[in-house]
Amino acid sequence: MAKTEKKTVRFVDTTLRDAHQSLWATRMRTKDILGILEAVDDAGFYAIECWGGATFDVCMRFLREDPWERLRQIKAVCKKTPLQMLLRGQNCLGYKHYPDDVLDRCVAKMCENGMDIFRCFDALNDVRNLEAAIKAVKKYGGHAQGTICYTFSPVHTVANYVKFAKEQVQLGIDSLAIKDMAGILTPSAARELVTGLKKALPDLPIEVHSHMTSGMAPAMYMAAVEAGAGAIDCAVATLSGFSSQPAHGTMHAIFEGLGYETGIKTDRITEIDNYFKALKPERALQANADAEAVDVQVLLHHIPGGMISNTRSQLAQQDALDRLPEVLEELPRVRKDMGYPPLVTPTSQIMGVQAVLNVLGGERYGMVSNETKQYVKGYYGRSPAPVDKALEKKILAGEKKITCRPADLLEPGLPQAAKELDPKLIQTEEDILSYCMFPAVALDYFQWRAKPEGERDPIPADSEMTIAKAAAKAEEAKAAPAPAPLGADDAKFAVIGKQFVALFGSLGGNIKVDASALAAVPTTDAAAAPAAEAAPAAAAAPKKTLNATLTGTFYRSDAPGKPNMVEEGASVKAGDPVCVLEAMKLFNPVKAPENCKIIRFLVQPGENVSKGSPIAEIE
Ligand code: CO
Repeated sequence: MAKTEKKTVRFVDTTLRDAHQSLWATRMRTKDILGILEAVDDAGFYAIECWGGATFDVCMRFLREDPWERLRQIKAVCKKTPLQMLLRGQNCLGYKHYPDDVLDRCVAKMCENGMDIFRCFDALNDVRNLEAAIKAVKKYGGHAQGTICYTFSPVHTVANYVKFAKEQVQLGIDSLAIKDMAGILTPSAARELVTGLKKALPDLPIEVHSHMTSGMAPAMYMAAVEAGAGAIDCAVATLSGFSSQPAHGTMHAIFEGLGYETGIKTDRITEIDNYFKALKPERALQANADAEAVDVQVLLHHIPGGMISNTRSQLAQQDALDRLPEVLEELPRVRKDMGYPPLVTPTSQIMGVQAVLNVLGGERYGMVSNETKQYVKGYYGRSPAPVDKALEKKILAGEKKITCRPADLLEPGLPQAAKELDPKLIQTEEDILSYCMFPAVALDYFQWRAKPEGERDPIPADSEMTIAKAAAKAEEAKAAPAPAPLGADDAKFAVIGKQFVALFGSLGGNIKVDASALAAVPTTDAAAAPAAEAAPAAAAAPKKTLNATLTGTFYRSDAPGKPNMVEEGASVKAGDPVCVLEAMKLFNPVKAPENCKIIRFLVQPGENVSKGSPIAEIE
């Protein structure tokens, strides 16, 4: 055989972003990164993926770190390798559409603080949701990487994907990522897709991203690269496999054997891997040990890597973990009803929670999340196929769909944010942007940061680890007589229980659910209510109560700073929203089950209530 020119494939390292998001619940600290960063920078990667929505959220929420400071510190070390991040199109780093002014300032600051490559994606592959993001990246001198969020369905074809890629080229993208967030892209489909893209857009560099969930990723990478993709996403061995990326070492061996140059330094990869291997016991939470090495079911339910464990913990919190198989069966039906959206933030959460509600609620779409409704109305963009007509009619209930770019309906966000924030809490302009992304989380972090060091609460991620270890110990001691209750830790459990919901996934706030199925039942035995202590002790047992159908946190308004939805003593009509329960990381408006008077609320805002416990006395 004639000697051919050496072929190349470049590796993008995801260890510092997707890999620990997928396996360590995003709990890698900045100091962990800095401890090995010089080696990462020198390992010969095409890029280092190190930033994105989940890392941003978790930095403040669980690690009590400033995500912008993390970026600056990483940039200060990385002199050889470009930094890469995941930008959720109009959703920026969050879970909803942000106004263009906020997105523009965020991208400006990301560039200024050292970000180089921006992988811009939209969950619905709606190019209108990418316009402002790509425009901003180009404006501030970044590398704009467009994205195809990959899924398969009767309406997803190579021709459609090529059309979508061309639309992004029109916006000025420098490269394109095929984002297989659930690990469901088969080698043959990858070959077909890359071949189609290369034929239509021969000069557009293509990078492929996948997860090991179904086990196909290495074979898929091979097929994609042979068809013309130039880069693949991998992680070090310790943080590879399961729902994370394939390992650099595996892919290096495969491609070396095929005559490719990868440019990576294998001794450096080993050095990085040893470092994280030593760190793993301190960072990987015990629950990950339950994960299956390979989950072929993903080919049916399409739940992305970071989401499956989240669904599991949501169900556990609702005391319904045994319903998981039903939820996984329901999800493809929801996806079909909704026009086959790819499942990735935020559609994965919207469809996942709707499937949970369909199963737990007993009647399909008996409970409809506000997000599902917004989705049907077009506020997330165009669904790949039309939503089921009958369902659309039911959910819209006479309301109109929008047809414009959703962000066109948003008022500028920066002036309002600057007005709302206490200047004493703000140190940089970046703080204002953090607040725009995650108001409650950022505020909580700013207040924590403002305290003298000795007076701050423990870092949530540290407390979690203590609890996870105690739980593991209790598990070990199971053979012994009934393990003693954790005592003082119980209180900690209550406080941190809510955070556990997010512990195993990348889901953040801002999604609202209409969980209106509240039971108005006479409470004859107050002591039987699981959250009986929530009711004021001196109060007489109420005759008739609204009971929580979900375990969650009680609030009287549907957003911070908003007035109460209903005052005590007010009369409400059946179906009127009365209060909200934050459950499954979502705000669930609670509606009156009948025409009634709200005598008084039995719980305080911010209090946790159990499923079935009374939250208000009514008559
Ligand atoms: Co991923």
